Amino acid sequence: MTIDDIMRVAPVIPVLVLDGDGDWEGLARTFVDNGLKVLEVTLRTPGALAAIRRMAAVDGAIVGAGTVLNPAQLDAALEAGSRFIVAPGLTDSLAQAAIAAAVPFLPGVATAGDIMRGLDHGLDHFKFFPAETSGGLPALKALAGPFGRVRFCPTGGIRADNAGEWLAHPSVMCVGGSWLLKSGETDFTAVGDRARAAAALRRTGANEAGPS
Ligand code: 3PG
Repeated sequence: MTIDDIMRVAPVIPVLVLDGDGDWEGLARTFVDNGLKVLEVTLRTPGALAAIRRMAAVDGAIVGAGTVLNPAQLDAALEAGSRFIVAPGLTDSLAQAAIAAAVPFLPGVATAGDIMRGLDHGLDHFKFFPAETSGGLPALKALAGPFGRVRFCPTGGIRADNAGEWLAHPSVMCVGGSWLLKSGETDFTAVGDRARAAAALRRTGANEAGPS
């Protein structure tokens, strides 16, 4: 799969901060069963790599690593079974490592200069981060002018109640967000409800076919 394929799978990518030793297979199944197959596990907790390894084994789940900051973390994430890599920003060293590893890569950008550095690497799919505090939708619309063929996954400050506005912009293929799993949540019933509602969102602005 390319990063474009991955961004088309569902309108929302849950951004997961997994603490401790939870039922991560059950969590992955809850998301998959409710229509969100692409899952980003952030490397912000000691157990994140173990969680990726366990969730990657769940049928139908497409599990990637987020908050990947350098090539060493990229290697560790790949070794754990990550199918894609998300970073909060764009560095040359990480971009080179991701391209060399031929892994779908979604680096964060917030400015025109960031996007131009990404384009220099041959990248044209980015996480717009942190989306709400980097100027929100007006900033994304302004960036989409000069960079018409670039596609975004805005993340940061996006919730159930504003995701639809972002998904109405033609350059937005999906959004990311941590609202689907609350910190410490162990009963996944409510997670399933949130996931189902998120999976029902549509990319109303996109000119390509909607998520399948
Ligand atoms: C991220 O790492 O992408 C963000 O922390 C997610 O942002 P959110 O918590 O505002 O959804």
